[in-house]
Amino acid sequence: TDVAGIRTALLRWYSTVYASRNMPWRKQYDSKLDTEERAQRAYEVWISEIMLQQTQVATVIPYYNRWMEKFPTIRDLADASIDEVNSLWKGLGYYSRASRLLSGAQKAVKEYGGRLPDNATDMQANIPGIGRYSAGAICSIAYGENVPVLDGNVNRLLSRFLALHAPPKAKTTLDILWNAASAMVQDLGSSTGSTSTQYPGDINQALIELGSTVCKVRDPSCEGCPLRPWCSAYAATETKGPAMIVTD
Ligand code: ADE
Repeated sequence: TDVAGIRTALLRWYSTVYASRNMPWRKQYDSKLDTEERAQRAYEVWISEIMLQQTQVATVIPYYNRWMEKFPTIRDLADASIDEVNSLWKGLGYYSRASRLLSGAQKAVKEYGGRLPDNATDMQANIPGIGRYSAGAICSIAYGENVPVLDGNVNRLLSRFLALHAPPKAKTTLDILWNAASAMVQDLGSSTGSTSTQYPGDINQALIELGSTVCKVRDPSCEGCPLRPWCSAYAATETKGPAMIVTD
């Protein structure tokens, strides 16, 4: 498949929506950041990703801003009490997310010099509350690691893209989808002329955003989709549209 072409189309689309979205945790990836600055980015992205797990972007923004005012660094969080953390979390629900942030921060300070592990494997294995999705999001966005994300939105998007017609949560389906998501961020090398390999975080965020705003559960907006030329569901159901494939 034409991974380089797909990425270029995806990133071009993302660059057109990026500015209008104005999410405080999003910053242009900067390969010149030093270790400390990168770890700070990882902290910010971690907080945002955990908040975004069960909560919509518009709701999360003021919570995220208040959190960063109170706990600007992972060390500030590690020093907090559970009551302080819970009071900032009030209204977001699923409070176990907040207590895992606190214990994760304490562990990072105690065992990792105040930084989240700098790769997805170590992060997922060692930080409470971080699964494969969160590790992929944080490490691709903050550390530029070529690791994939698969949330509900990306699951649906890729299921349609591949015209899977498979139960969306079955193990074999998830294996296929994680592999497809990995292919999107894999290192293509420099010979392809694609610059996008340096920005796995942008590719992942583009997929998340495309899934949630364009490739919607019902009535996907195929006319505005940058991936339409490669989409198997679109090709297979061109007359009716890929709404035929509702995966969840
Ligand atoms: N939902 C989960 N992660 C996100 C991100 N990085 N940007 C926008 N929406 C998200």
